[in-house]
Amino acid sequence: MKSERWMRGLDRPILMIPGPTEVPWRVIRAMAQPAMVQYEPAFDLEVLEATLLDLRRVFQTEHEIFAVPGSGRTALETSALSVIEPGDRVVVVVAGSFGLLMREIMRRAGAEVTEVAVEWGRPLDLEALERTVEAVRPKALTLVHNETSTGATYPAEAVGALAARHGALFLLDTVSSLAGLDIPTDAWGIDLNMTGSQKCLAMPLGLALIAVSPRAFETMARRARPALSYSYDLHRWLTQWVPAERGGGVPPEGKRRQPVSIPTHLVQALQEATKLILEEGMPHRVRRHRIASRAFRAGAAALKLDLFPDPAIASDTVSCLRVLPGVGAPALVRRMREAYGVAITTGLERLRDTAVRVGIMGITASPHYVLPTLSALGMALRDLGQPVDPGEGLAAAQAVFDAEAP
Ligand SMILES: Cc1ncc(COP(=O)(O)O)c(C=O)c1O
Repeated sequence: MKSERWMRGLDRPILMIPGPTEVPWRVIRAMAQPAMVQYEPAFDLEVLEATLLDLRRVFQTEHEIFAVPGSGRTALETSALSVIEPGDRVVVVVAGSFGLLMREIMRRAGAEVTEVAVEWGRPLDLEALERTVEAVRPKALTLVHNETSTGATYPAEAVGALAARHGALFLLDTVSSLAGLDIPTDAWGIDLNMTGSQKCLAMPLGLALIAVSPRAFETMARRARPALSYSYDLHRWLTQWVPAERGGGVPPEGKRRQPVSIPTHLVQALQEATKLILEEGMPHRVRRHRIASRAFRAGAAALKLDLFPDPAIASDTVSCLRVLPGVGAPALVRRMREAYGVAITTGLERLRDTAVRVGIMGITASPHYVLPTLSALGMALRDLGQPVDPGEGLAAAQAVFDAEAP
């Protein structure tokens, strides 16, 4: 194996893990400011509220969005604690590690969980799901839109329609898909659309973002007892912070109160990240993720790496590739990072040794990042003794970019 240390002189790797992803310069610069006072109108109204209203165009919703300090898990738990009461029946689709996470969060919220298990990387059987929902008659149905552990995307629109047919709330984890894939929140009947800031929104880690339907708020208002959590009770967020004219509890001349103190620098980053997305336009952004991921998959195939999931449901934000036992996923990840400065990651749990995962999110959904990643992947595989030609990976990806570039 060659021993040149190309990383000498470079202070950080390119982030091609499935989040956190690369942060654009404009977003980085937006945070280089003195502290603002979070409850004063200059921040609360002009930055926070204005940003959340703009963000509706990214979520494709006409309803409230909240920015809760935390991560993707905070979005899931806040939603669960807000709508679920102990003993409520919930159907949870589990198709990978993040389905298991949702199951655990629901159990801790006191739900009586019925799991619909999907073989990892395989499609969801919608008819079987419907039979379960018919039998259980749950209060809520949950799905992970883009299962980051397997690189598979599930049919959220169809599951939303199914939930609506059976009167169940639809909770959708879009942590690794929002702002990369097309997710019309209202049109798909998503009652709680739950995501995090560090993936396709392309900003730093630290905000959980949740779009909430009026139906979800009605469910919260009808609770027998208030949510057990104070900080993460979205009903309190609605009544203390949202103006009455938008269905909230703050009268026209009344004083609004932030439900928790909101991190000003992160919201300034969100403001800039949202501007960047809206300047680009969601249709272009979605197409860019699709083409870049397709190019990456073509390159990986030319390097003789098979996709882990069924290709029919391959994700356009996270690629999960099988690695030959002789190579080993941890060794490949290490070689790419140490020798070539590109950070990807291994599979999770049962896939830790046999798969690698690559995030193609935000600004990394472009030839600027995809081509160096494939180049490093090809060279690292060759270093580890695989009979591959790194140039073939690049050529296959370039051909897709050439043919499909927006
Ligand atoms: C689909 C999905 N759900 C939930 C999470 C948890 O999010 P976080 O790590 O931001 O808490 C992740 C993180 O990768 C994810 O990909």
